[in-house]
Amino acid sequence: MAGRLKKQAKDAVKIIGCGSALFLGYLTASGDECFYASALMPVLQRFVGAETAHLMAVRLIGLGLVPRNNYKDPTSLEVHVMGRKFQNPVGMAAGFDKHGEAVDGLYRLGFGFVEVGTVTPKAQDGNPKPRVFRLESDQAVINRYGFNSCGLSAVHERLKAREHVQSELTKGKPLGINLGKNKLSPDAVSDYVEGVRTLGPLADYLVVNVSSPNTPGLRDLQGKEELRHLLDKVLKERDSLRSENRLPVLVKIAPDLTTQDKQDIAEVIMEVGVDGVMVSNTTVSRPDTLKDPNKAETGGLSGQPLKELSTQTVREMYTLTQGKLPIVGVGGVASGQDAMDKIRAGASLVQLYTALVYQGPPVVNKIKRELDDLLKAQGFTCVAEAVGADHKTTEKTVKTTPDVTP
Ligand code: FNR
Repeated sequence: MAGRLKKQAKDAVKIIGCGSALFLGYLTASGDECFYASALMPVLQRFVGAETAHLMAVRLIGLGLVPRNNYKDPTSLEVHVMGRKFQNPVGMAAGFDKHGEAVDGLYRLGFGFVEVGTVTPKAQDGNPKPRVFRLESDQAVINRYGFNSCGLSAVHERLKAREHVQSELTKGKPLGINLGKNKLSPDAVSDYVEGVRTLGPLADYLVVNVSSPNTPGLRDLQGKEELRHLLDKVLKERDSLRSENRLPVLVKIAPDLTTQDKQDIAEVIMEVGVDGVMVSNTTVSRPDTLKDPNKAETGGLSGQPLKELSTQTVREMYTLTQGKLPIVGVGGVASGQDAMDKIRAGASLVQLYTALVYQGPPVVNKIKRELDDLLKAQGFTCVAEAVGADHKTTEKTVKTTPDVTP
């Protein structure tokens, strides 16, 4: 009798175990937002270090092992800028797929565009490990990867192999390539020019990244004369590429610039004819609100504590460029409201990275759904109508963010 009861109890435990495993498997495969954000991602983070988790995520997404995605982008989310159509305005920011290994999987998560890189001309290892840190209590990350890159030719080979796939995707899901310089290169300009020449033919837009805080001297390229000289050469190289349409070139700026820096950048990019500006990269500032002990790590801070600084910089750049230049808003986007705030401040598109770390793949559809709801609730029929809306309702003065001393 006792033996039979024991066996029945064991069977019951097995059934419950199998049932739970199946249920968890279902929640994982179906991309349940709540399960990912409040159970799966926090548990995974307890056991897996930040860089290992990053590598694993790139590998899994690269293999197409992504949750089911049934969300169909509504036409309200369609954006037309820089001569390109974006099926939705939510993009994968640079730094996640540095080497172009997971592009198709990322599109399957629902991103409207994907940005590969930063890619440097020659392969380089980046900084010693550990070099990426989660600040869980702040919903933030600090990284000092320092442009670990497999170099232009390896990325070229990988992207060339899927060029035919991209040519179809490009009709609604453009591919961006983010370019940088080698740490020890004596000639920054020729590094970027080489990037344009090698990867330009495979890109729907290029980004000149002069704002990563982890390559010594890189951010100095945001100075007026340095930037003018760099962009002049980059745009000349772009113009010499043989292509049907002009390849858009954007500049990615830091959120830690003085008012004068921003005025200078706006003047130069308007003058030389850059096609857009990405606002912003990670910050070297450390807001007082940070709680996590990892806040003391050196590197660029991303996620929630960057959000306001980045949105204010979008607002300022929109004013300084008189709303004439497309802006990609990046920094702390983790909800439809965050995306809407950037759009109303002047962004035509948004990107995210850190929200993927904390909420997992379902965050992409969540943001799109919430953004669609907000557009309707605020009386906009499409994203374009909402771009810069804050500037139309508030006084027309340049709101400046306080200067940040890096
Ligand atoms: C980045 N980011 C970044 N940007 C870039 O232009 N080139 C790069 O190689 C990287 N690398 C990188 C690594 C890691 C681990 C993170 C978290 C970020 C910056 C990124 O593209 C984005 O601008 C910021 O992270 C702000 O967006 P989120 O993360 O707050 O959504």
